[in-house]
Amino acid sequence: MTIQQNISLKKYNTFGISAKARFLCEINNLNDLAEVLRMDEYPEKFIISGGSNMLITQDIAALVIHINLKGKEIISETEDHVILKVMAGENWHQMILWALEQNYGGLENMSLIPGNTGTAPIQNIGAYGVELKDTFESCEAMEIATQQIKNFTKEDCQFGYRDSYFKNKGKEKYIITSVSFKLSKRNHSLNTSYGAIEQALEEGGIAQPTIKDISNAVIKIRQSKLPDPAVLGNSGSFFKNPVISKLEFDIFSKKNPEAPFYKVSENAYKIPAGWLIEQCGFKGKRFGDAGVHKNQALVLVNYDNASGREILELAHKIIAVVQDKFGIQITPEVNIIK
Ligand code: EPU
Repeated sequence: MTIQQNISLKKYNTFGISAKARFLCEINNLNDLAEVLRMDEYPEKFIISGGSNMLITQDIAALVIHINLKGKEIISETEDHVILKVMAGENWHQMILWALEQNYGGLENMSLIPGNTGTAPIQNIGAYGVELKDTFESCEAMEIATQQIKNFTKEDCQFGYRDSYFKNKGKEKYIITSVSFKLSKRNHSLNTSYGAIEQALEEGGIAQPTIKDISNAVIKIRQSKLPDPAVLGNSGSFFKNPVISKLEFDIFSKKNPEAPFYKVSENAYKIPAGWLIEQCGFKGKRFGDAGVHKNQALVLVNYDNASGREILELAHKIIAVVQDKFGIQITPEVNIIK
């Protein structure tokens, strides 16, 4: 295991921010991970995997540990289901494509989400009516303090909307090393309820979709709306969709009857932050190399050389204007690394 010095992080984060790591090491197996965590000469450690949900705002003095653990394994199976264990450093989308080739269902609606498998549970990633928690069986994580591997059940993970134990009490205590999914082998339960999926299938003349058809529909929708990080730096949705109370919603919807919304429960309404941001005139706007994507106002982009601070400044401006216009506070979904 080698410790590299003064490494640009541009290719390690999908925002393409070129901050530097003072020290960086690549981790390819669990022994190396335990060893590097025990190194006292680098008291501060910073974990990076797919780098798809972070905004790095300055150079990192801590030892950057890049999780590159690879491998997929079938743990058990019945006629109906398979338990698939995937190591943390496996690319999320490639893993789904592989699962589809085996005719394993359950992940197809989350095709093309950038990032690696190990970080998916941290914020319970989701798209087009499906969340990670729907197929999640368990995950393993190394406790940073003891280097012990601990197993987490679905209950242990306390999944919520873009939220989990690993974002709260477990924050900075564990490194997820693998994730196990329960996937269907037959009688797949398809989720085509999301309007855009229905429409894409209809356009393709597909009346009885397979899991692969759904994946293809999702890929088509995402490619039309969301920028490819390999072409234009971004971190997916920069903000979470705000959830407001019934009382707040009644006032809001009276003033904005045309606003889209989603009723979460009797007293909770989710408003698309992308709509709020678009209404404030930010969609497609560019400030230097930082900008708001032209097809989806929820996504901030780095045109080339924006610094993390410039993106953050733009985010703060958007938060303030949305607050001012709608009295609704939106908060970042990505981790801001300060
Ligand atoms: N909208 C606008 N303007 C915009 C963007 C959206 O008016 O610029 C409106 C749309 O017209 C629609 C509503 O907002 O009525 C919802 O838009 P969309 O279906 O695109 O979904 P979203 O709420 O903006 C969420 C997730 C995405 C996920 C999609 C599809 C969050 C924070 N984002 O976006 O996740 O792909 O739903 O399920 O929940 C991500 O987390 O990185 C991500 C891309």
